[in-house]
Amino acid sequence: MRYQYDAIVVGGGVIGGAIAYNLAKRGIKVLLLEKDRLASKSSGAAAGMLAAQAELDGVGPLFQLARKSRAMFTRLADEIKGTSGIDIELINKGMLKVAINEQEQQEYKRFIAIQRQSGDQADWLTGEEVREKEPALSQDIIGAMLLDKDGHVEAPQLTLGLLKSAAVLGVVIKEYVEVYDFQFTKERVTGVVTSEGDFTSENVIVAGGAWSKKLLSKTGIQLETHPVKGECFSIVTHRPLLTSTIFSHGCYLVPKKGGRIIVGATVKPRTFNPKVTIEGISFLMENAKKLMPSILEAELEQTWAGIRPQTADGYPYLGEHPVYKGLFIATGHFRNGILLSPITGEIISDLVEGKSTSVNLAPFRVDRLVKQLV
Ligand code: FAD
Ligand code: GLY
Repeated sequence: MRYQYDAIVVGGGVIGGAIAYNLAKRGIKVLLLEKDRLASKSSGAAAGMLAAQAELDGVGPLFQLARKSRAMFTRLADEIKGTSGIDIELINKGMLKVAINEQEQQEYKRFIAIQRQSGDQADWLTGEEVREKEPALSQDIIGAMLLDKDGHVEAPQLTLGLLKSAAVLGVVIKEYVEVYDFQFTKERVTGVVTSEGDFTSENVIVAGGAWSKKLLSKTGIQLETHPVKGECFSIVTHRPLLTSTIFSHGCYLVPKKGGRIIVGATVKPRTFNPKVTIEGISFLMENAKKLMPSILEAELEQTWAGIRPQTADGYPYLGEHPVYKGLFIATGHFRNGILLSPITGEIISDLVEGKSTSVNLAPFRVDRLVKQLV
């Protein structure tokens, strides 16, 4: 059989974009299908933190994957700028994970010891040292874990940068085309059935974020995933209020270019409803005010929400379908899909090419958490 494409990627978010870009760099002929607009779902809503140390526990395979991925951003930023002209606004001014009570202080000091054992930088700052570095922060902060390597990017720019770079390298991108089903010959995928007809390929990669489970149910499996809504808002001030990203249990503050700060995010499980609620935004505002009282003087810019793809054990699915050859799955990146996008693109491209991967994929296998529907 003669196939139209070497690989078909389903999903125009950061994960589909990273995979399509990596495949295209290897000379593979790719079609990418997106049922809506590119970067219109979780990837367009993300705050863009590369919070390997602030958000993960400092041990285990997911942390190691995240560290590896974080290290890929400097090169990726240059590549995307060079190929598409898009600036992903990579900023490496560190992160402060702040403590407001004794329990958090003890917990973060323990984290510092663990992270140093893994060879990562992590330092404790007292409350006074925190305010010396970031004068806008509240007197209620008793100290913070300083993480120099946890930077951030503009998530929508990263997503579009990957996708537009992929297009420059020859990837065919079709928006507003929904994949309904797959085609198979015996136990091999041979194409997809879409709202605009059928397309053939012996490699199909499902990177449909929180909607992957629904699509994959057509193949007789049910992934153990669920949607988790996150709401955010942004503010602008003439004079920038912060330099570092501020991370706490109640909210985070991510300083972007031009005096803009993203405040996020709520965590509301098991809903695909993307509406921004007063409950969500007032929760974030209360928490942000406690961290940085001068936020009250800032201008509110906008609000938005996205749906994160979460798995039952918190690890993404990265691998081949348990039954069908050539059908690959890359989803479930939950709160760290932006951070994990470069390494995911590399891993899935290696699998498509039949190469061994630089990472042990056993903890991320698809069949670890999957129900057979038939
Ligand atoms: P998505 O971005 O949802 O993309 C999947 C795409 O697939 C969608 O565009 C969808 O329309 C398309 N699709 C689905 N089914 C089909 C189909 N059948 N046919 C065609 N197309 C289909 N991560 C970080 O690393 N750092 C952060 O700071 C961060 N902050 C976040 C803040 C918020 C408020 C939210 C909501 C998330 C945040 N995340 C963050 C998490 C991150 O956004 C996600 O992990 C990541 O975007 C997931 O990417 P994705 O490509 O898998 O999913
Ligand atoms: N990683 C930040 C969030 O998901 O809100």
